[in-house]
Amino acid sequence: MEIDKTQVGSLFDSISKNYDFLNHLLTLNIDNIWRKKAIRQLSSKRGIVLDVATGTCDLAIEVLKQDKAQSIIGIDLSKGMLEKGQEKIDRLKLNDKITLKQEDCHSLSFEDNYFDAATVGFGVRNFRELDKGLKEINRVLKPGGEFIVLEFSKIENPVLLFFYNIYFNHILPTIGRMVSKHNYAYTYLPKTVNEFVCGEEFIEKLKKAGFTKASYKTLTFGIVTIYKAVKE
Ligand SMILES: C[S@@+](CC[C@H](N)C(=O)[O-])C[C@H]1O[C@@H](n2cnc3c(N)ncnc32)[C@H](O)[C@@H]1O
Repeated sequence: MEIDKTQVGSLFDSISKNYDFLNHLLTLNIDNIWRKKAIRQLSSKRGIVLDVATGTCDLAIEVLKQDKAQSIIGIDLSKGMLEKGQEKIDRLKLNDKITLKQEDCHSLSFEDNYFDAATVGFGVRNFRELDKGLKEINRVLKPGGEFIVLEFSKIENPVLLFFYNIYFNHILPTIGRMVSKHNYAYTYLPKTVNEFVCGEEFIEKLKKAGFTKASYKTLTFGIVTIYKAVKE
């Protein structure tokens, strides 16, 4: 079965219970190192930070761990993911620092120039309309506000790519299916990564959406990339 991007919210609802466990298992916990490195790119402590596609809030929580925000608003399409995130926030007693809202990043409820910075971790490749989503994030950022994106990308070394593809296209979907009991969700993951723009192509998307000073650096042989840009 094909999953199209209008079903993303319900797809994440259906895997929300196992999302964190599988994320850490399938990446051997390296996902947390990637998040740490991404948030280190925020140049200094900010006022209000928007974490788009916040899911179970790991990136939002990392922003606070590194003391890079006074407060955070996390938005996500999926009620199930937000519920899991809220449990974590309650457990860590971060209710006065992180507020969650169920929203679609293509039409945010916030006024123009509201946030001091914005972040997205493993979310942009799920946007239904990437250009529109990026433009909307740009709209709610203050001029000079930093934007950090962490996303899967493509390994360039052909030998590593060969082994990575076996893992990513075969082993990972099998483990994902067994644990989540969801037939398609973990087939959707490699599909979205294989189809998604990365590197210079994504930089062009950022510029088109109104960002400037856009740059990127790859991590772990290019498995993921951190992008940084600033609203003009
Ligand atoms: C792979 S998860 C990433 C969650 C979290 N940021 C992390 O680092 O683990 C992707 C999230 O993007 C959300 N998402 C996808 N499209 C969205 C949209 N248009 N607006 C808001 N959230 C969206 C999904 O519901 C899901 O929770």
